[in-house]
Amino acid sequence: MTLRLGDIAPDFIQQSTIGDLRLYDYLGDYWGILFSHPADYTPVCTTELGYTSKLQEEFSKRHVKAIALSVDDLKSHEGWIQDINETQNTYVNFPILADKDRKVSELYDFLHPHASETTTVRSLVIIDPNKKVRLIITYPASTGRNFHEILRVIDSLQLTDHYKVATPANWENGEDVVILPAIKDENELNERFPQGYKTITPYLRFTPQPNKKPT
Ligand code: BEZ
Repeated sequence: MTLRLGDIAPDFIQQSTIGDLRLYDYLGDYWGILFSHPADYTPVCTTELGYTSKLQEEFSKRHVKAIALSVDDLKSHEGWIQDINETQNTYVNFPILADKDRKVSELYDFLHPHASETTTVRSLVIIDPNKKVRLIITYPASTGRNFHEILRVIDSLQLTDHYKVATPANWENGEDVVILPAIKDENELNERFPQGYKTITPYLRFTPQPNKKPT
């Protein structure tokens, strides 16, 4: 199935390292990060899952739950988790789906047969509390993901869901944002952006991040 931004994330029940996991029940009103990795006991994946477990505090701050997946079985995941904990000096604190029957991989388009006939690619989907798909990214097996970028996108999504702004190139939480071009009325601009705004062109206007207190 091809999944697109704005689609409703398909629900499923699958075996996982914390028992049978039903996506919607597990996420509740949290944001979700569902990410596939090619295989257990591989070097890049070991660093990715180790790093993800170290970001638990950052995920909690943002009301996010992570779920990993590969087509390996539960026994393999359980053995590998010991390795991740030891080698990455961490404690894997999120579920890993054992998608041996490929049910979830097929629902989420994690199998790209021209890249690998047997394993999932390195994909990641952000799901919002309304269960809408908000980000889909896919990396090659040889490139580990930058999980700070995932946090950055979540910060941007959570901000832009609440204010009529968007975040410019390379934006980091706390930096100035751009005002949506649809807002033209000066009274509305002053009301929505009491910290002021700078007009570069009629469609490019910067304002301090609205939910940050002025320093
Ligand atoms: C890895 O996770 O290290 C990996 C997995 C598949 C292909 C290449 C690298």
